[in-house]
Amino acid sequence: MWKCCQGRHIRSLLRSVMGALLLVGGLAAPVAAQGAGGPAVTVYKSPSCECCGDWITHLRAEGFTVTAIDLDDMDAVKAENGVLHSLASCHTALVGGYVIEGHVPAADIQRLLAERPPVRGLTAPGMPKKSPGMQAPGKVPEGYDVLSFDGNGNTRVFSRY
Ligand code: CU
Ligand code: CU
Repeated sequence: MWKCCQGRHIRSLLRSVMGALLLVGGLAAPVAAQGAGGPAVTVYKSPSCECCGDWITHLRAEGFTVTAIDLDDMDAVKAENGVLHSLASCHTALVGGYVIEGHVPAADIQRLLAERPPVRGLTAPGMPKKSPGMQAPGKVPEGYDVLSFDGNGNTRVFSRY
């Protein structure tokens, strides 16, 4: 289940520096941008992460305009965006000034952007099996919580599935 994230716990200063360099390189060369004119989302993911691609497909189907950026080291992106290890998943996305970590349903992102609560973002920690990108398209999310987080370790339940 955690196949795209197994390297997360191996950290060193060198890797962080390398990650920052890769991030700068990645920002200079977005791989794909398309969509229906909805909210613009930038998604950082490992090149080999299939569930990340499926989550992106879900967002596009819900009208988001997605730019996907492949990175070899996701640790730097997560650290920069206040995503603690305990809250981490595979991909990390940015939309409307918020951070979206993992398999958060599009409906929660739409609600976040409408309500604009004072949080850093939303996360679905780990790899919930019955979540968009992890199960067949169109199936209802089930069996996990989407949390809001503030970057200091504080979380609240945002949605319950
Ligand atoms: Cu995933
Ligand atoms: Cu992912």
